[in-house]
Amino acid sequence: METFKIEVDADGIALITFDVPGKSMNTLTLQAMKDLAEIGPRLKDDAAIKGAVFTSGKTTGFCAGADLNDVMGALAKTDAKAGFELVNGLSNALRAIETCGKPVAAALNGLALGGGFELALACHYRVAADDNKIQVGLPEGKIGLIPGAGGTQRVPRMIGVMAAAPLLLEGKTLRPQEALGMGLLNAVVPADQVLENAKTWVKTGGAVQPWDKKDFKIPGGGPYHPQGAQMFMVGSAMLRKSTYGNYPAQINILKAVYEGLQLPMEAALRIESRYFVKTLATPQAKAMIRTLFVSMQELGKGAARPAGIAPWEAKKVSVLGAGMMGAGIAYVQAMAGIDTVLVDVTQEAADKGKGHVEDLVKKQASRGRMTPEKAEKVLGAVHPTSDYHHVKGSDLVVEAVFENRELKAKVTALAEAELSADGVFGSNTSTLPITGLAEASVRPANFIGIHFFSPVDKMGLVEIIKGAKTSDETIARAIDYVLKIKKTPIVVNDSRGFYTSRCFMTFLQEGVQMLADGYAPALIDNVGRMTGMPRGPLEMTDDVAVDLAYKIADQTAKDLGDAYVRGPLDDVLKALVVGHERFGRKNGKGFYDYPENGSKTLWPGLAEIAPVKIASSTPELVAEMKMRLLYRQAVEAARCMEEGVVTDPRDADVGAILGWGFAPWTGGPISLIDTVGAAAFAAECDRLAKTYGPRFAPTQQLRDMAAKGETFYGKAAKSKAA
Ligand code: NAI
Repeated sequence: METFKIEVDADGIALITFDVPGKSMNTLTLQAMKDLAEIGPRLKDDAAIKGAVFTSGKTTGFCAGADLNDVMGALAKTDAKAGFELVNGLSNALRAIETCGKPVAAALNGLALGGGFELALACHYRVAADDNKIQVGLPEGKIGLIPGAGGTQRVPRMIGVMAAAPLLLEGKTLRPQEALGMGLLNAVVPADQVLENAKTWVKTGGAVQPWDKKDFKIPGGGPYHPQGAQMFMVGSAMLRKSTYGNYPAQINILKAVYEGLQLPMEAALRIESRYFVKTLATPQAKAMIRTLFVSMQELGKGAARPAGIAPWEAKKVSVLGAGMMGAGIAYVQAMAGIDTVLVDVTQEAADKGKGHVEDLVKKQASRGRMTPEKAEKVLGAVHPTSDYHHVKGSDLVVEAVFENRELKAKVTALAEAELSADGVFGSNTSTLPITGLAEASVRPANFIGIHFFSPVDKMGLVEIIKGAKTSDETIARAIDYVLKIKKTPIVVNDSRGFYTSRCFMTFLQEGVQMLADGYAPALIDNVGRMTGMPRGPLEMTDDVAVDLAYKIADQTAKDLGDAYVRGPLDDVLKALVVGHERFGRKNGKGFYDYPENGSKTLWPGLAEIAPVKIASSTPELVAEMKMRLLYRQAVEAARCMEEGVVTDPRDADVGAILGWGFAPWTGGPISLIDTVGAAAFAAECDRLAKTYGPRFAPTQQLRDMAAKGETFYGKAAKSKAA
């Protein structure tokens, strides 16, 4: 066997070491799946073997799950029947281990996710190292898949349907202590005792899973039990409420659990395999896997990095402005071991920024995710100051002062005076074009946009913006920096609102436009959520700030002059901001009222600004509103592709989902267009443009693609190959 090594000791315990050659982390490759199929029969037939312990040959962990590139590649080439055989083959291999008649334990020295955890679940005993950095669980649901190696069957049989639901549906992962508490692990012990603990158990352990015993009952009741049946009714209603039926994976997980729990294990596993293949065949799963797994991984390895430029490491980085963004940036830098100078106008303001870093560190430490040593190191890496001389020796400066062109020009000059000749200057501006800001720089080739998202410690995306004079070397360095702080970089060209803000604003605008059109505000926000966006457009406008939306619309009108058509949207925003000082959540007044204690309610005064003409909905009306909200963003993304603001569909899709929460089930706006097809999408946009206005007009590029039957991803692959 290539991926598993079996050594039998004097006690007859087979130590089965999982160790995929040439990889730093184990994944279930096709070869590993083949090898696993040999293990069950061997354990059963080899009389010298009394029991077995699975362990990993990697220090990085036990197994990160199925090797999606490998397995998906194989599945993409097969039909549903062959796909079923492949997936069910793995389930059968694990079932053979489970029923080999000898006790089998899993000794988890590190993370065990997806198929890796499912292998452990098929063992009769699981012990993990007591380390809060370790995660175990079944994250498949997060990328549009369903657990396909017994997870949907063994987890509910072990801990009940209720407790299993969030693990399966949301892909929630657990720390060892949590998993122990839930009953998914049998023991958690210090790392150096894991193997011994497993071996000791095997000497006296039982070799029959609870569900293979005669009197087995599903904890909390199965689907046929009155209480269990009720759980499924409530569960499917809750699922509907949180996903609006957009995600086939979640629906299929629930079905696999419901149907599978009424059957013996072998049949249940076949049910699961069928739903796995069925889920995989949906456009949603394909798009989600591509964007949230393949593309993200590629971008995370620096796919957008210009070739031929030596790797670069930012060791010392100064952050200008210790406000909300600057403090967050300082935190992620310090976490990555970067020596960080945090500059603000006064020492007090800089200290306040460091205080924010301290709060974040404390939170991590209190949850056991950071050792006291690491906490001390992180805090020690942040040096608050009001003296620009401390910028000296920095490899990079990240500017995050107020959004004001003159102020940004001033601090650029102050910092560049201290920066080494080849130092990079990055601006975290959210709206000001980089080329214009670079005019204040003596080294515009080293000037670049490094756009973070709020809150910085949580948001995984960084939008890197090229100015007209930005050099390839600077782009490569900005990417190296973003990867070092463990974020996903996308690279875009300079444009109003760059890529993410520009497209995101269209979602908000379309919502406000609907309000001006006379749709009831509650209907607008409900439909907004039904599209798969995290919140409705009006509530999101409140979160972003209504006055900011107003200012952006106003600035756009000024910049575009006659080309900008003022409409009811502008009137609504003006009435809110100028007429009623309703700036959004930040001053407790926007489209909604925000009482100090209690949840938000729609502002009754809205009815006067935008009288409601359409209050009740039909499925057709909802479908049309959904299309407006999603297609408006997608056609803007298509414009960004045509204009070269984004050039790679991967940047566009990953940026959309990570940056502004674009409906994940679509795989992103460009995937949405590819799935619908350029011809159908363009035709629909033509219709929408005729009904609602030219903002929906499709691009020439879309028409050309429609004529040639091309897709964005197909074109990108072709140009890469050329
Ligand atoms: P903020 O108002 O929280 O912080 C700005 C900080 O800059 C303040 O602490 C201020 O004292 C400091 N400052 C002013 N003049 C300075 C000087 N001469 N030298 C050093 N520091 C100085 O603002 P926030 O929200 O952190 O935004 C900062 C930048 O990041 C802006 O350009 C903004 O557009 C951008 N941005 C903001 C996002 C957000 O969600 N708030 C998202 C992405 C970018």
